[in-house]
Amino acid sequence: MSQLAPSILAADFNHLGKQIQQLEQNQIKLLHIDVMDGVFVPSISFGMPLITSIRKESSLFFDVHLMVQEPSRYIKEFVEAGADLLTVHVEACKGVTVSETLKMIKEHNIKCGVSLNPETSIEKVLPYLDLADLVLVMSVHPGFGGQKFIPETLGKVRTLAALREDKGCGYQIEIDGGVHQGNLHTIVSAGVDIIVAGTAVFSGDIAENARKIKGVIENAS
Ligand code: DX5
Ligand code: ZN
Repeated sequence: MSQLAPSILAADFNHLGKQIQQLEQNQIKLLHIDVMDGVFVPSISFGMPLITSIRKESSLFFDVHLMVQEPSRYIKEFVEAGADLLTVHVEACKGVTVSETLKMIKEHNIKCGVSLNPETSIEKVLPYLDLADLVLVMSVHPGFGGQKFIPETLGKVRTLAALREDKGCGYQIEIDGGVHQGNLHTIVSAGVDIIVAGTAVFSGDIAENARKIKGVIENAS
């Protein structure tokens, strides 16, 4: 069954620890952590110190999404901060190649993911499907929460699901951006394993939102 990964980008940072506890109490297992560098994407979010802090209190799986130019420069630091999975963008790896970057992540005995922007063609990630533990399909332009879901990106999900079947690869498929209760059913049916949701989880009652979203996922699976 698909899993929900709440994105803390939409959290209230005044109460971050408490909000993460609420997720844990509602059987959430994954936490999506959006790191933005102001270069690969226009905005800046947070970095290693925040991850180090929340790692002390949480045993959730930390799914760290690096929207960062040349991410290989920071792998060691993010592993030390407590990441369980590091996802890098194909568009962001320049000097150190995508393959080299993914291998560097794996050498630290954590999982590695590769992501692609809405305008990037699926062909760009095909060379890494044997290496990656996860493919993150961006369903909005990276950089901000609260954007509108781009439905055409589900075509990539379907292609990745079919390729996984054909090739016998083990990667998981994650979607990120613009997910809400109304489009969840279509997303799950397309073959997504991990569903990132920020605004849909953190606006209003977190526990109720998490329960409702999980209910829709269960019905659609
Ligand atoms: C966008 C981030 C997303 C974002 C999702 O750059 O990668 O993870 O937080 O937020 P919502 O669910 O609000 O679209
Ligand atoms: Zn993200």
